[in-house]
Amino acid sequence: MEEDQENRGELILVKQGAEARVFESSFVGRRCIIKERFSKKYRHPSLDAKLTLKRLNAEARCMTKARRLGVTTPLLYAVDPMLHTLTFEYVDGPSVKDLFLEFGVHGVVEERLDDVAAQIGDAIAKLHDGGLVHGDLTTSNMLIQSSTNRLVLIDFGLSFTSTLPEDKAVDLYVLERALLSMHSSCGDVMEKILAAYRKSSKQWSSTLNKLAQVRQRGRKRTMVG
Ligand SMILES: Nc1ncnc2c1ncn2[C@@H]1O[C@H](COP(=O)(O)OP(=O)(O)OP(=O)(O)O)[C@@H](O)[C@H]1O
Ligand SMILES: [Mg+2]
Repeated sequence: MEEDQENRGELILVKQGAEARVFESSFVGRRCIIKERFSKKYRHPSLDAKLTLKRLNAEARCMTKARRLGVTTPLLYAVDPMLHTLTFEYVDGPSVKDLFLEFGVHGVVEERLDDVAAQIGDAIAKLHDGGLVHGDLTTSNMLIQSSTNRLVLIDFGLSFTSTLPEDKAVDLYVLERALLSMHSSCGDVMEKILAAYRKSSKQWSSTLNKLAQVRQRGRKRTMVG
């Protein structure tokens, strides 16, 4: 992507993952994030190109859908099917992961925690009621925009449309596990998130019933080993 990049800005690598590289750069004078999907070496080349493109388009579509459902996401500036890149608005502010880790070190600021948890529950409820499952609800895929204190959801790379309570319950379960393992010093954040979810979602009862089942399955799995 070097040539095309010259009349834009320089590229600063933010994250090198297994399936994507994320850069900070500029796009028509604005600070931006460029996410480049690349191929997996073990896959057949032409099949791989098709899959990469499919994922790229799915991510763009799901993020746009989330926005339509009233969830704050970065603006999508550009999709380049040749370079396999998505260009997003840069969100200035810490991730929820950084914020919660900070609470772990310097003590929890209760009002702040309550506000963030409420925003998380509300955002997930909006996605789910609109038939969208995020697929990777971790605290590093949630940013807090410093200028507004608003929650911004990112990384729709594993998102899909579904109205099944099971899929929504698994979405919540992934977050619950992540919070338990990484942010135990923040107390029961999940309880606060679920309280907000219950308030916002019209379909909360079927999802939360399923969540109880998904938790039990998770427990059995750990006992069996
Ligand atoms: N719009 C944005 N503004 C600011 N920072 C961002 C933005 N998008 C991504 N980032 C930063 O880059 C990191 C990686 O981005 P992202 O989560 O989309 O990629 P990924 O986790 O590698 O993707 P995948 O899980 O699909 O492999 C984020 O955790 C965040 O720190
Ligand atoms: Mg991510």
